Amino acid sequence: MRFAPSDPAFVADPYPAYAALREGPRVQYDEATDRWLVARHADVDALLRDRRLGRSYLHVATHAEMGRPEDPPELAPFWHVVRNGMLDVEPPVHTRLRRLVSRAFTPRTVERLRGTVQEVVDRLVDDVQGAGEVDLLTALAEPLPVTVIAEMLGVPEADRHLLRPWSADICGMYELDPTPEAAATAMRACREFGDYLTALSRERRARPQDDLITVMGQVVDEGGDALTEDELVGTCVLLLNAGHEATVGVTGLGWWSLFRNPGELARLRADHALLPTAVEELMRWDTPLQVFERWVLEDVTIGGVDVPRGAELGLLFGSANRDPEVFADPDRLDVGRSSGTHLSFGAGVHFCLGAPLARLELQTSFGTVLRRLPQLELVEEPAWRPGYVIRGLEELRVRV
Ligand code: HEM
Repeated sequence: MRFAPSDPAFVADPYPAYAALREGPRVQYDEATDRWLVARHADVDALLRDRRLGRSYLHVATHAEMGRPEDPPELAPFWHVVRNGMLDVEPPVHTRLRRLVSRAFTPRTVERLRGTVQEVVDRLVDDVQGAGEVDLLTALAEPLPVTVIAEMLGVPEADRHLLRPWSADICGMYELDPTPEAAATAMRACREFGDYLTALSRERRARPQDDLITVMGQVVDEGGDALTEDELVGTCVLLLNAGHEATVGVTGLGWWSLFRNPGELARLRADHALLPTAVEELMRWDTPLQVFERWVLEDVTIGGVDVPRGAELGLLFGSANRDPEVFADPDRLDVGRSSGTHLSFGAGVHFCLGAPLARLELQTSFGTVLRRLPQLELVEEPAWRPGYVIRGLEELRVRV
């Protein structure tokens, strides 16, 4: 098995291919995807913190100077939205955008959401109790993080059903080679989502509420260059998308991992105190976001391999998380594992802003299901969605 992100068998189990990659040179050019692949934990960790690389290069060079094509005009709505959010810009713009919202996501602020998160989970579990068979993704994994992030931002309940489809359509652009159809769908979603958020933020500026969109709108109205309206929209799209896609992925993959390892599920059922380490281990063992990219802003040498400016690195998080240099017996799921740090939340300046919130949501949802649905069992082996970068299950049918 080799690195083949469009092959469903690879997507379902990329780990043997990663093991082979980790045995090879520290950086390996993959012609099919035009990415330089990095598979070892120490390298992925160091490169995420390396300022000679960036999620974007437009702060230091034009497309032409980087030897890259101009953005195709038909993709303009996507680039407009993402380049106005913190994830696709670098300091100093990144620092300014991240600082504006970071206070809402500190561990202390997030801790205050514990009661709300528990209430949402309890309501969702109430709805499935006694239901027989359900899809755990639509019943719990999706509505929990969507509700929480929508509530924080201030998206009215009646509109929340719009968020998942918009997010899924836009996230299609993060796959390594989106088809023209996927791109067209993403552009429509970018326009609709952008228009929706612009209208909502204007409404909040006229009639303030106790939510993040109102807070951000006040910064826009203060003028200067603190936050533009486009940046407000870019930030909201990012928070709404990043704020739930991976959490849905971890919930689905996490339960599927436990069902595939019944001994570890039994161990967790017998000892709920293992929850914090179990959640981290589930994020490590089957990583939801498999690869993140970085542009090489100046010529670098990585492990003796010269990589030229303008190259794109594919940092293989899923591989780093199975590196035997860091994790003893890495292919074994061990819900009590306490050594080694997984890279599922990234590292460096773009380290996941929502990590404390994601941990709270995951520990609450896994804990509540263990407690209130102690007989939960798998009905059938789930199918994978086609995506590799944002990897997850189509559905997870369980008996409650
Ligand atoms: C288990 C769930 C999650 C995982 C695995 C995850 C993973 C990540 C990763 C790997 C990055 C860095 C990407 C890079 O360096 O290229 C990131 C960034 C980010 N995440 Fe998360 N995330 C999760 C949940 C959340 C949640 C709940 C939020 C809520 C707001 C969130 C908001 C963000 C934001 C805003 C960024 C951009 C940070 C920056 O550029 O400075 N994430 N996430």
